[in-house]
Amino acid sequence: MMIQETAVVIGASGAIGKALVNEKLKNHTHVIAVSRASINIKHPYITMYETDYSQKSIMAIADRITRVNPKIHSITVCNGALHTSENMPEKKIESFDSDYFNTLLHVNTVIPFTWLQAFMPHLMSTEMPCVFTALSARIGSISDNRLGGWYSYRASKAALNMLFKTAAVELKRRKCNAKLVLFHPGTTDSKLSKPFQNNVPPEKLFSPTFVAEQLNKFEHSREFNGEVDFIDWQGETINW
Ligand SMILES: NC(=O)c1ccc[n+]([C@@H]2O[C@H](COP(=O)([O-])OP(=O)(O)OC[C@H]3O[C@@H](n4cnc5c(N)ncnc54)[C@H](OP(=O)(O)O)[C@@H]3O)[C@@H](O)[C@H]2O)c1
Repeated sequence: MMIQETAVVIGASGAIGKALVNEKLKNHTHVIAVSRASINIKHPYITMYETDYSQKSIMAIADRITRVNPKIHSITVCNGALHTSENMPEKKIESFDSDYFNTLLHVNTVIPFTWLQAFMPHLMSTEMPCVFTALSARIGSISDNRLGGWYSYRASKAALNMLFKTAAVELKRRKCNAKLVLFHPGTTDSKLSKPFQNNVPPEKLFSPTFVAEQLNKFEHSREFNGEVDFIDWQGETINW
């Protein structure tokens, strides 16, 4: 079977990232997987890059990837953090911790946007439409915030959403052939959600494989209309 497409999956060792790599390989896609760690997937269609996610490393890897693979159909950033070894999401204002906030802001906001920055030369030059997706979360929706709490995670995802919304305006103005997507996977079985799974009914806790199938499907059905799509695992639009 011939390879049909080339996809870049960043944060490829996480639950959703790894499942997306496997889903794309299953669909005869050449996958360029980027991670802090080496990923234990052996396949003839996979190319791997290791990064420390410094701006220098991100810029160098994106440059290398686009030089070697000028025809990239999708770029998906699966990075994200909710808790650290020191901090769990805040239940009250008094728990706010600036180090924890800065860590989440870096992983959830700065890293995905730096990848978008790094791939701009590709997105501006390619004649081939390219979908650029970041894993967001419904909790980053300001209008949907009824429960409160989780200050740092909410704010970092809301900031990610605003950066992508702003970038979409610029990309449209610059007639860039790219589509931006912010994807909420729903509660998915992973290291990130593990401490919060107790109250989730089994049918509402998704497998990474299911989420990856949905994400891959929606990446292939986007309309290149100059808008950013903030969508959930069903493809339903989420209000800002
Ligand atoms: N699981 C859920 O219920 C859920 C719900 C809503 C939204 N999301 C979002 O979905 C995305 C994927 O999460 P997941 O459930 O697959 O979680 P996961 O299994 O814990 O994976 C987390 C990913 O984030 C990266 N990461 C973690 N800490 C990092 C750090 N300090 N610096 C750089 N990268 C770091 C890892 O990249 P490496 O491969 O480089 O290690 C890994 O790919 C996240 O953006 C998350 O916010 C998840």
